[in-house]
Amino acid sequence: MYNLIMSKKEEYKKLKKFFADTKDEPLENMDGFFDARIEFYEEHMSHWRRHYEYVANVLPTHTRNLLDLGCGSGLELDAIFTRFPLLDVTGVDLSENMLAKLKNKHADKNITLEKCDYFDFDAGENVFDAAVAFETLHHFTAVRKRKLFEKIFRSLVSGGIFIDCDYIALSQEIEKAAFDECLKRRRKYKIPPRTYVHFDTPLTLKHELSALKKAGFSKIKCRFLPHERNTAIIIARK
Ligand SMILES: C[S@@+](CC[C@H](N)C(=O)[O-])C[C@H]1O[C@@H](n2cnc3c(N)ncnc32)[C@H](O)[C@@H]1O
Repeated sequence: MYNLIMSKKEEYKKLKKFFADTKDEPLENMDGFFDARIEFYEEHMSHWRRHYEYVANVLPTHTRNLLDLGCGSGLELDAIFTRFPLLDVTGVDLSENMLAKLKNKHADKNITLEKCDYFDFDAGENVFDAAVAFETLHHFTAVRKRKLFEKIFRSLVSGGIFIDCDYIALSQEIEKAAFDECLKRRRKYKIPPRTYVHFDTPLTLKHELSALKKAGFSKIKCRFLPHERNTAIIIARK
């Protein structure tokens, strides 16, 4: 317990230092941020290799189709297709370059790609056996996430599974500091309200789980892989 309290305080101090060190860096639009980093993106994300494998292994054996929100270049799909080569996938993302890379890597697979905002995407009702969102939702408020989770809930068949693997804030203090800093920078650079910027504002686990429950998910489990206390793998069933 003492260690956990200490590490939350350490994490908060690190975050405040990061904000001070980067205070003059401009905010980048979400799609522009990922478009510009396509060359090194997959190497940077190789840190999450075990998380991708874990997510692929959690999917039920009978999974035939999957919705991937914020699919990017498809790193989770690399792992998922190894287990389910015939899977029917719908991938949604804002970044043209990320989607192009995914298309290139998996040209032989059954994938429909949508270049759009997942908050606007019509996911239908009772369509998917499974949905995933991997390292993509840590930029949005609990209110917006709840609406998205409701959409995902509706889109799943009865008994369908949603896997939300993402950063979480280790404390309420950290969650608040990140949202405050993001707002400060948005004001400084006069970013219009509906424009997405790449700035991390993860929720605490409590707030993430609460948004999922309010959206209708009842059977929810949460896993952490060793040495990664900032990344939760949340498995929710309809
Ligand atoms: C860190 S990447 C993760 C990509 C992939 N899931 C992975 O793990 O490699 C986050 C992705 O989410 C996408 N994204 C962020 N907000 C989005 C939104 N509102 N609608 C669609 N895609 C979004 C970004 O364009 C980016 O490709």
